[in-house]
Amino acid sequence: MAEKRPDYILFDRNTKAIVYGYQAAPIQRMLDFDYACRRDTPSVACIVDPTQDGYHKCFWGASEILVPIYRTIREAAAKHPDADVLVNFASFRSAYPTSKEALETDTIRTVAIIAEGVPEHRTKELIHIAKQRNKWIIGPATVGGIAAGAFRIGNTAGTIENIIEARLHRPGSVAYVSKSGGLSNELNNIVARNSDGVYEGIAIGGDRYPGSTFLDHLLRFEANPEVKMMVMFGEVGGLDEYDVVEALKDGRITKPLVAWCIGTCSKIFPTEVQFGHAGARAGAERETADAKNKALREAGAIVPDSFDDFDAKIRETYERLVREGKLVPKPDIEPQKVPMDYADAVRLKLVRRPTEFMTTISDDRGEEPKYCGVTISEVIEQNYGLGGVLGLLWFKKKLPKWATNFLEMVVLITADHGPAVSGAHNAIVAARAGKDLISALASGLLTIGPRFGGAVNDAAEYFTFYHDAGYSPDFMVKDMKNKGINIPGIGHRIKSVRNPDKRVELLKEYARKHFPMTPYLDYALEVEKLTTTKRENLILNVDGCIGILCCDMLRSIGYTPEEVKEFVSLGALNALFVLGRSIGLMGHVMDQKRLKTRLYRQPWDEILYLMPDKPEEVK
Ligand code: ACO
Ligand code: LMR
Repeated sequence: MAEKRPDYILFDRNTKAIVYGYQAAPIQRMLDFDYACRRDTPSVACIVDPTQDGYHKCFWGASEILVPIYRTIREAAAKHPDADVLVNFASFRSAYPTSKEALETDTIRTVAIIAEGVPEHRTKELIHIAKQRNKWIIGPATVGGIAAGAFRIGNTAGTIENIIEARLHRPGSVAYVSKSGGLSNELNNIVARNSDGVYEGIAIGGDRYPGSTFLDHLLRFEANPEVKMMVMFGEVGGLDEYDVVEALKDGRITKPLVAWCIGTCSKIFPTEVQFGHAGARAGAERETADAKNKALREAGAIVPDSFDDFDAKIRETYERLVREGKLVPKPDIEPQKVPMDYADAVRLKLVRRPTEFMTTISDDRGEEPKYCGVTISEVIEQNYGLGGVLGLLWFKKKLPKWATNFLEMVVLITADHGPAVSGAHNAIVAARAGKDLISALASGLLTIGPRFGGAVNDAAEYFTFYHDAGYSPDFMVKDMKNKGINIPGIGHRIKSVRNPDKRVELLKEYARKHFPMTPYLDYALEVEKLTTTKRENLILNVDGCIGILCCDMLRSIGYTPEEVKEFVSLGALNALFVLGRSIGLMGHVMDQKRLKTRLYRQPWDEILYLMPDKPEEVK
């Protein structure tokens, strides 16, 4: 249980709060205020979030601290019995049950309800519980309040710059109560400029039935010897200000009270006007701002003639108290400097930091992603298609139709080549072993290499090298044979001169018809003539044909031989086979899953067992 404070003090420099709702920004603002005030410990004890538990990382000055998160108020209160305030950010739907639970929790004394729109009958029930249990409610429909130099509820008083400007990091001698949270911010500045500053400011909220009233707080301020004068900022609508009038008359309020009810302009409207707050509407003459200002003035409050003189009245009252020796101005204290958030410093161009990495292909910072400067709307509207997107993201160019069609054709014809090939085989085995789709897909993709599907790039490299260097096809075949290297892109296990690969036929036919030039294909077909005279399966295979035609495409759209070389050296052309084959591999995995196939097991007679009878013993 929190250390006992006098009843009139709701918040001091040791106050700790439970924040209901994972509200990172107000939590950080509360902590920054604490730090500026040089509090010994943070005012946020913990967070309650029904959807998660764990820790929230936030700043205490320049260091990071962890604030625990609990799922229930009960657990939070049990773990933090010294927290006697609940700052309730629950929505208007959950504000009632959560505030009720808090009010019924022994260790919690004050509940600030931020939500607007809490049903009035629910608020009345909460007020009833609070009265019975001697608890305080601030709100609903409020920003909260602030005890200068001690404790701040959530977002009250705005930015840390505003708080320092209004000297709220240390207490003054003036306590105020207002309805509006926004105007309480204005009051912080008015009071700071016309006195030694705010001691405490409470916004009771704009509802017709506030959880605590003007009078409730003014009586607390009256009882508090640190408060030397009081300010009340009422508004049109409701009758609560008359309770203050009575208290002035019967002597319960004796300290100077500067008061003003806004909304005096309502009389110029021909019909009754509902101002911003639920309660800001005069149903009867007594509820008008004019009537209330008059009654307050008559009861002894210091009431200006208009809002324009409000600050002057505060100043006059303050200076009089100082002159009469009733108020000794509170000293100014240097606030502890709160470090600026990095994001703010960047926004204000106060710091710079080298970026971690670069990109030249896409950008998602605007309203919609851009591929190489083209918005995805344009990609769809202008029918870029898959080939067009490959052009933008891989080649960083808006490719002509013949080229995008070619790229799409490659994807289509490499999508699958039956279950017997390496990639599909592996993906199927992985699926049968129970692996998920992505793992099984990956196991298939990982087979793509120099002997299967991954010869696209190597083919491009070797054929362009021999061609660009001016070597004859005959020289290339002999040279590679001498070096003991199989020509990448040549040869197929089952396809041959007599059993041609339809995919290669289709690609060649397309290129002949649509490519502006095909120097590499022409060269490769000369090489094929030579290799197929040796063995009829040493044909230009699908990998080779794709690799070579990609280079023809790049040259045709204006890349120099050096640029093509650089592109090939990235390994980028294999990506086309990977992209296409992914479609088929995923199909195989889904197929196996649909068929609910069991674990794959190779029959023993499919394996040659070559094991010694016993291992060689090392002495
Ligand atoms: N270039 C030149 N000679 C070759 C090539 C080649 N690419 N491939 C095979 N040979 C020769 C071998 O040197 C051997 O010659 P030899 O009889 O004088 O000793 C003979 O052909 C048989 O070699 P094998 O390795 O038994 O041929 P196989 O039919 O098993 O190989 C394979 C097929 C793996 C495709 C092979 O041709 C090769 O390695 N090609 C290059 C890699 C390639 O392009 N892979 C992609 C295939 S298509 C795809 O996966 C989608
Ligand atoms: C394929 O596209 O997977 C095939 O060309 C490979 C093969 O071994 O048949």
